[in-house]
Amino acid sequence: MKGIILAGGSGTRLYPLTKSISKQMLPVYDKPMIYYPLSVLMLAGIKEVLIISSPRDIAGFLSLLGNGQKIGIKIEYAIQEEPNGLAEAFTIGESFIGSSPVALVLGDNIFYGSDFGNRLIDAAKLTSGALIFGCYVADPRPYGVLEVDGNLNVLSIEEKPEQPKSSFAIPGLYFFDNEVVEIAKKIEPSPRGEKEITSVIDDYLQRGKLNVKIMGRGLAWLDTGTHESLLDASNFVEAIQKRQGMYIACIEEIAFRRGYITREQLIEQASALMKTNYGQYLLDVANELTIMQRK
Ligand code: G1P
Repeated sequence: MKGIILAGGSGTRLYPLTKSISKQMLPVYDKPMIYYPLSVLMLAGIKEVLIISSPRDIAGFLSLLGNGQKIGIKIEYAIQEEPNGLAEAFTIGESFIGSSPVALVLGDNIFYGSDFGNRLIDAAKLTSGALIFGCYVADPRPYGVLEVDGNLNVLSIEEKPEQPKSSFAIPGLYFFDNEVVEIAKKIEPSPRGEKEITSVIDDYLQRGKLNVKIMGRGLAWLDTGTHESLLDASNFVEAIQKRQGMYIACIEEIAFRRGYITREQLIEQASALMKTNYGQYLLDVANELTIMQRK
């Protein structure tokens, strides 16, 4: 399974913050937003990643993450010239995807939850059809929304409906078989002018090839679309990290625990960050200090 992070969009809802930098580069507490979706792909066991961004912003991601070698994975980059919609990720990424199945995660989606890593590893075993998730939210109108029957079978999918048929929103994390590339090529822009991911998902639904997993209460799916929700996400991450003493989306830690990098490599990366709690945390992880021992 290969992975794509789509970190495009114009970010106009966050102006002036995003007037000159990418939304997905903004801080969510102590790390750039893109660390969170990248950690999701890494937790799924995906080691080949394509980051797609705008012509303006791509250089920033390259300078942040390089070719991925420091975290033991391979990162490539591609440009989306205009924000033409999420489905374009598969046509832009066609040669990267090759004959592989592919996961798409949106650069501004943050997930956190118990056992989430294991769910991701299961999801990444997909070789046929599509797998998406459903999350219960108070207001599903800004999202793709599922219509489900009493047994939680999906009946239909709508993008940003004014009158949602359920409270189950579709978060920005999708797993597809290789057919997604050809399907994406056929997608026509919606009335808002975008090639919608929901149109791709609907193609799988119509062919009986869509699997939907409803996330329970134990999973937090955070939005970063407004100044308020961005601050909420930062506060959430801070609260968990401070209380538990374990970091969310620490890509170096994941790389180490998954055996992608050695202890020596982790220590080397920590040493460059020693003015921060983040660097100290990496050192503790490298030294395998238990939470009880840490100050
Ligand atoms: C996109 C998708 C939508 C999905 C959402 C998740 O919306 O089109 O289906 O629910 O991401 O964040 P957008 O970010 O384009 O508003």
